Amino acid sequence: MDAIQQLTQYEADATAAIEAAADAPALEQVRIEFLGKKQGRLKDLQALLGQVPVDQKPVLGKRFNEVKDKVTSLLETRKAAVERPAAAVDGVDVTLPGTPFRYGHRHPISQTIDEFKAIMSRLGFDPVDGPEIEDERHNFDALNIPQDHPARDPLDNFYLSAAKTATGSPLLLRSQTSTVQIRVMEKTQPPIRIVSLGRVYRPDDMDDTHSCMFHQMEGLMIDTNVTMADLKTVLRLFATAYLGEDVVIRFRPSFFPFTEPSVEVDMRWGDRWLEIGGAGMVDPNVLETVGYDPEKVSGFAFGLGVERFAMRRFGVRDIRLFYENDVRFLRQF
Ligand code: DAH
Repeated sequence: MDAIQQLTQYEADATAAIEAAADAPALEQVRIEFLGKKQGRLKDLQALLGQVPVDQKPVLGKRFNEVKDKVTSLLETRKAAVERPAAAVDGVDVTLPGTPFRYGHRHPISQTIDEFKAIMSRLGFDPVDGPEIEDERHNFDALNIPQDHPARDPLDNFYLSAAKTATGSPLLLRSQTSTVQIRVMEKTQPPIRIVSLGRVYRPDDMDDTHSCMFHQMEGLMIDTNVTMADLKTVLRLFATAYLGEDVVIRFRPSFFPFTEPSVEVDMRWGDRWLEIGGAGMVDPNVLETVGYDPEKVSGFAFGLGVERFAMRRFGVRDIRLFYENDVRFLRQF
């Protein structure tokens, strides 16, 4: 074998040995064998080169350096590969950056409901639930809503055609969470401090502020000497806790069959007032219906639109966005 052939052989042997080395110690052995400074195959080749005729030296010298550089760089590449911890497990390179994982989260309305409950809990109001399918007693009668009241109009309610109460009375999807006031008072004695959050249904025409289904937070406080001042304080504290100290709310005299006196509650939004709900002192007729003595206890009640607050908080101008479940919208919250 002449010197050129020996260099080629060296290159081939070194390449194979480097590839076969499975870990760092094995690779170190290969390095000593092929690139060792004191002894080893490279050293032998160098000695060989010293003996070739002078006119061959430039060509062989060049080739020698080429081969040495190549083996050195192969060895370094392989070294990086075997030193990477568990770099390739079953053909999967676990050191590659992963595919980013997009976390899911709760719907903005559910988030809002949770936050409302937390705020009201701090004010001493316990959350309770009530059914979405209701009878007329809880949706109307016990709330002092007379037989001929427009709120009972079948066109303004979702009556169920397929189901009736056990006694054959109509059932409907509740049009307000005030139903839960009655359910709580029927089975609890004062003092009472509850909130109830949930869906209500009305066959409204849908637009940017109206939906056939939306959410309300009902509040009820019954005790001795509860006054309108307590109601206003609780609502103000709630609104500022949720929207910040600079929120402005106002109370307008109004009418509801189940409260006397009654107010409508508005919130300032830019240069407009946005209605956020109704409230008032629980009507003595309602207290009597559930067996309370209006001479002994009094209370306030309120019903707020959950979406109205969420729209203001999140700057959402169209209520329908909450129900279309377009992830591009939902992802923002
Ligand atoms: N239930 C009323 C509605 O849906 C809102 C309401 C007004 C609730 C006055 C109350 C209240 O508890 O006292 O329009």
